[in-house]
Amino acid sequence: MKQLETSKGKFSPGESPFWEKSGLLEFKPGYATSEFFAQWSFQTKIYGEAVEVDHLVVSFPDFTSLENYAAALAKFQGKIVEGPGVFPLEFCPQNYTLTTDLWIHLETILMPSGGLIVLQAPHTEGDRTDRFIQERGLAAVHHVAIKVDDLQTAALNWQEKDFTPLSLEPVVGDSLSQWFFRNSAGQIIELINRSPENQATFFCQNIGGLRMSETQV
Ligand SMILES: [Fe+2]
Repeated sequence: MKQLETSKGKFSPGESPFWEKSGLLEFKPGYATSEFFAQWSFQTKIYGEAVEVDHLVVSFPDFTSLENYAAALAKFQGKIVEGPGVFPLEFCPQNYTLTTDLWIHLETILMPSGGLIVLQAPHTEGDRTDRFIQERGLAAVHHVAIKVDDLQTAALNWQEKDFTPLSLEPVVGDSLSQWFFRNSAGQIIELINRSPENQATFFCQNIGGLRMSETQV
């Protein structure tokens, strides 16, 4: 397979940026980088399953480091498709409310390969995202969204892998269907089915449901 030489070493387009540690997903050192994502196919194996990654979340300690990373992705033709802004304030209708503990700085970048990288940073010190980073570190993968054709079939498959759905049914809205699952270690994955023209990684009500479910961990 063709390899790309970068300051971080050599990457193959089919390589995985993740490893699993006691059931949790983490970015391997040097892989959550703009250089890696610039050439990655977004096709990989997680939990033994060959998947196409729709989007993944990279966490930052603050908004400044998030913006610096977004600028690095832009150098590789990354294009902003969501944000930057504070979720939900700058993304959702005014009547949409979510406890401030769950607010985040959010920006999503579409890479030339078609994969999406969601950048998140805590809104306030000590909030849910800040605690997530304190507990699991910056290499932690908050969640990975996997493209599927049939949510019901995929759901059965992931349930056999110790992943439990966080809602009884998929959350559906705005040409985006999403279903969130968590394993016993606490790793969240998302199964997603979208209309091709829609590049959003969330629909306000959908992600609200996910974020609320995290508080039940
Ligand atoms: Fe997502």
